Amino acid sequence: MDMNRFRLRSFVEKLIELGEVEIHEEPVPLADLSRIIEETPKATLFRKAGPEQVEVVAAVCGSRSRVAAALGVEYRQAPHEYMRRMANPQPVIEVPSKEAPAHEIVLAGEDADLTKLAFHVQHEFDGGTYISSGIDYTVDPETGRTNVGCRRLMLRGRHEMRSNLTNNSDLKKIYLKCLERGQRLNVSFVIGSHPIDFLAAGLRLPADEFALVATLRGEPLSMVRGVTNNVPVPADAEIVIEGYFDELGHRELEGPYGEGYGYYGPMHIDPVFHVTAITRRKDALFQSLLHSGQNLSRADSPNIAALNAEVAAWKALRAAGIEPAVICAPTSTGRQQHVRVAIKQKNPDDARRVISALFAVPRFKHVFVVNEDIDVFSDEQVEWAMATRFRADKDIVIETGFPPHYMDPIIAGDDVMTKVGFDLTVPFGWPDRVENRVAHAPRFEKPARFKAVSEALKSKPMYFAELMEAVGSRDGREIALELDRLREEGMLTRLEDGEWALKLRA
Ligand SMILES: Cc1cc2nc3c(=O)[nH]c(=O)nc-3n(C[C@H](O)[C@H](O)[C@H](O)COP(=O)(O)O)c2cc1C
Repeated sequence: MDMNRFRLRSFVEKLIELGEVEIHEEPVPLADLSRIIEETPKATLFRKAGPEQVEVVAAVCGSRSRVAAALGVEYRQAPHEYMRRMANPQPVIEVPSKEAPAHEIVLAGEDADLTKLAFHVQHEFDGGTYISSGIDYTVDPETGRTNVGCRRLMLRGRHEMRSNLTNNSDLKKIYLKCLERGQRLNVSFVIGSHPIDFLAAGLRLPADEFALVATLRGEPLSMVRGVTNNVPVPADAEIVIEGYFDELGHRELEGPYGEGYGYYGPMHIDPVFHVTAITRRKDALFQSLLHSGQNLSRADSPNIAALNAEVAAWKALRAAGIEPAVICAPTSTGRQQHVRVAIKQKNPDDARRVISALFAVPRFKHVFVVNEDIDVFSDEQVEWAMATRFRADKDIVIETGFPPHYMDPIIAGDDVMTKVGFDLTVPFGWPDRVENRVAHAPRFEKPARFKAVSEALKSKPMYFAELMEAVGSRDGREIALELDRLREEGMLTRLEDGEWALKLRA
């Protein structure tokens, strides 16, 4: 097995080749990392971060094209490549510790000092220093089922941290069951993962989630058991924090923390995680995510979640018997509250059917449907479709009574979410008249077919630019003069859409 193919460092090297990384060779204090990370749309690589001068990379997943590069495709192909991989399950293979790069250095007990890791403050009002890039691996002690998720980590002491286990998640469910039995829960956090592992971790499926990582990678996944907690993690990880959530349950305040919606999540009561070992590669690359801010399309989790949301939309529409042309979940909303779908309109109710199928997907709040000529990845084009093809009295669908997303700031405290569908398609059956066509610059590509304007118009009526091309004009003014001569001779007329035509002789 190639233990470097899916290691984070290899992916960062690929991004450097693509010109996607801003590199800081100078020493940078940990306090300045977040400001620098937030200022650039690129990923950021710090060669000497903090007093230990460690290498830190951030915002690796902070653009659609970088997430698509992780799948080895152009971003419009990413949902299709993702679905192709999901249809080809891959196994997990256990490898011994000596074969695992993640175990090149093992620090256990007192040596497992969290303060040697680059926890850093990420947002102005955060409750402390954080690691934002943790991917947690667990095996449910009751069922044996494996679980993977992303969870932030707040530094508490040299050997303890807090994590956010407040929201509903499988990890929380597994932990609560352990508490009922008076047990602790062994978990390992990987710091430094390939973007594909984040895609898998962002899914909540009733399945063996370790195998999901393998399946999305598109090849078998080598995993190695923890040296102190026996929990398997990818053997190619950069850094692993092993330990357990203790049996005392939710008891300490965690947060506030800059959240995916661009606002802060409040403090809540969470459990304490005890570290039993830190293992790593010799040349481990520490990872940070850009998590919140005002340019959410540059942050990691909106780009990870957007692809997961687009795949969910493809599946929901296909299940409803609808084949969309293109789907985009805009990353600037942070949490995929919006979804845009381009369709080839065949029936008057096509847009409505898309809206109703996507209202059933919990995460989508606002659904926008456009014709195929609109690029759903272009804010400009969707805005234009809204301005010119949408009538609020006819083209809006509003339904309420949906369960809200607990973090949506406008819904907070309410127990229902209202969903809106915007039909931005042209009125069905719009006549093909010149005033209904989209204006584009002319392209003169075909060779001349006629010597004179009158000869060209004898073949058929023509629009002005069509006429220029037909006679090989590279100017146009001489055509205007020639048309005027024909008009004076009484030979010329105009058709309804503006084509020039010769008058029919009586
Ligand atoms: C970067 C990132 C950070 C996240 N942090 C948390 C977190 O701290 N707590 C949480 O409950 N969910 C968090 N999530 C969402 C969960 O990882 C996600 O819901 C996942 O599907 C949960 O997995 P599980 O239900 O299998 O445990 C985060 C997601 C991302 C992409």
